[in-house]
Amino acid sequence: PGAKPLAGKRALVTAGPTHEPIDPVRYIANRSSGKQGFAIAAALAAQGADVTLVAGPVNLPTPAGVKRVDVETAREMAGAIDAALPADVAVMVAAVADWRTADAATAKMKKGAGGPPALALVENPDILATVSAAGARRPKLVIGFAAETDSIVDHANTKLAKKGCDWIVANDVSGEVMGGDANRIHLITASGVEDWPELPKGEVAAKLAARIAEALG
Ligand code: C5P
Repeated sequence: PGAKPLAGKRALVTAGPTHEPIDPVRYIANRSSGKQGFAIAAALAAQGADVTLVAGPVNLPTPAGVKRVDVETAREMAGAIDAALPADVAVMVAAVADWRTADAATAKMKKGAGGPPALALVENPDILATVSAAGARRPKLVIGFAAETDSIVDHANTKLAKKGCDWIVANDVSGEVMGGDANRIHLITASGVEDWPELPKGEVAAKLAARIAEALG
């Protein structure tokens, strides 16, 4: 009694989108608000964990007791996570851009007679897969998120295997989840699937933090 369940445990959380520059004034982005990831960082800290939150560009206050590292691109996020290892648990909530431009222009691209520019894209590093395969530096518990609009549990199971993580939190983004305040999720672990009711993102975070505390013993 007295000690918080995650006291002495280190947690890494990624949250928000990434921005991938096209030129000095333009970028590729997505609609992630960062709310669910920030809520998870807050919930883990509330349970006593030492939390590092690596955040893409979002407009959210830093949760109490959380160490925040702000990044812009996927590669910066990967570097910040690598620098923050080792940890007991990693929760990768960020909506990392799958692709970046092969060569961001160093000067603003101009409209011209040549018509619109062709953007060559290259794949970004997969931070979740990298952390899952980090050998001796791999956190004991690695958790990924999966935003799906259909066949949610099937896709999440495929993702669990592909990424090499321990749990997938699958959320149904067919409705108004992105930027919204509630989430309907399915927790996929080695022992099966749990369907959670639609809950405010803060409650999803608290429930997940409790499950993490159980798993880390
Ligand atoms: O492959 P997909 O983007 O659907 O996988 C989502 C999960 O993988 C999330 O946990 C996300 O944070 C993580 N991810 C990552 N690095 C990427 C792409 C996704 O960590 N480049």
